[in-house]
Amino acid sequence: MNIIRNIKGTHDILPPETKKWQNLEKIVRKSSELFGFEEIRTPIFEQTKLFSRSVGSDSDIVSKEMYSWDDRDGTNLTLRPELTASVARSFIQNNLKARSPLNKLYYMGPLFRRERPQKGRQRQFHQFGVEALGSEFPEIDVEVISMAWTIILKCQLIGSTSLQLNSIGSRECREKYREALKDFVHPYLKDFSETSQKRFSENILRLLDTKSDKEQLILDDAPKISEYYTKEDKSHFEKIKELLQTLKIPFLINSKLVRGLDYYSRTVFEFTSSSLGAQNAILGGGRYDNLIRDLGGKETPGIGFAAGMERFLMAMNDENNNSKTDIYVACILEEGLPKALDLSNDLRGLGIRVSSDPLRRSLKAQMRDANKLKSRYIIIIGEEELEGEVFIVKDLERGDQKALTKSEVIKLLKKVII
Ligand code: HAM
Repeated sequence: MNIIRNIKGTHDILPPETKKWQNLEKIVRKSSELFGFEEIRTPIFEQTKLFSRSVGSDSDIVSKEMYSWDDRDGTNLTLRPELTASVARSFIQNNLKARSPLNKLYYMGPLFRRERPQKGRQRQFHQFGVEALGSEFPEIDVEVISMAWTIILKCQLIGSTSLQLNSIGSRECREKYREALKDFVHPYLKDFSETSQKRFSENILRLLDTKSDKEQLILDDAPKISEYYTKEDKSHFEKIKELLQTLKIPFLINSKLVRGLDYYSRTVFEFTSSSLGAQNAILGGGRYDNLIRDLGGKETPGIGFAAGMERFLMAMNDENNNSKTDIYVACILEEGLPKALDLSNDLRGLGIRVSSDPLRRSLKAQMRDANKLKSRYIIIIGEEELEGEVFIVKDLERGDQKALTKSEVIKLLKKVII
């Protein structure tokens, strides 16, 4: 019989990989707390129109990557391809604005995009991210970027990561810029690919994103969006650069960075990692001052980012030297089991990680198991230990051993491990 397999582009996350996920999740939660962000959890599926109205119907995500279907009542539903739209929907629906003038929210969870699977690109992937809703001022942009930077620092990724930054200006600025870019590109249009020609008519800013070297070469001479900033756009962007410099967060200005989602205005940014292949964006975000109003809410500026957790973990040190237990209680005789279990439970009660062998293997096999789990200590319960009050505790790191009573064992472990 053929075995049933997972869907292409999805992955099982198995031990010991799960431990790395838990560590990353811990870092994200801790950092979010440090910056005063609270967790939000929204449903895995939403009405399709939420994404077409926010991410944009011409975007790659909405035009070709969503998992959508008609529900029994005819409503078209979609597995969420990103979370900013869901957070915005929830913010409006639950009137979070009334709760506080500034809502700082973070999230973690699975997303779904029907992309061509490759290294770093899945059809089910996971993101962590934040959204700060309520402030139009540049200090919140910097706080959000600084939080991303803190997580990158804690994940020891700074050496391989760089931050690209741009401002795509306000709506007013972009309208004028679009016209200027159209005028510039028009005479060269025949040299652009079919996809780029489509972008030219549907969303010309996305043209700046093109992967084609030939097209990029032409665009090098195109007018820059910075020439069309309003006075406010300019001062907002200048303040961000100044504050990032104060915080010593290194960045590169990339005037062609536009990002593929329609809701952005002004600030956009992306962190890329040099240790990944083609899919090197580990985190992306930006400001979306019109999104809440466009979705029917009260005017509320917002900024946020999301990071691909799979890509983060790929870029992180792959070593798995983590010890999985503090002490291994090896038992040679069946009669020793009550003593072994009693000692194990007492130690666990103190927060010490204990492993043992429920497979009744030989002492040699249990020693091997203890080493495999990278246990610091092993206690062997043999014939002598059945009657006596002392245990032989072997330090697997240093190689020496001591005869200790139960309270001495606890004292030793408390000193070294807790
Ligand atoms: P995004 O750039 O579409 O932005 O996705 C953010 C990150 O998710 C990417 O940088 C990448 O690391 C990861 N990612 C995206 N697609 C895949 C995939 N198919 N497989 C693996 N990883 C992937 C957003 O989603 C916006 N909502 C970010 C945001 C939040 N902007 C403002 N607030």
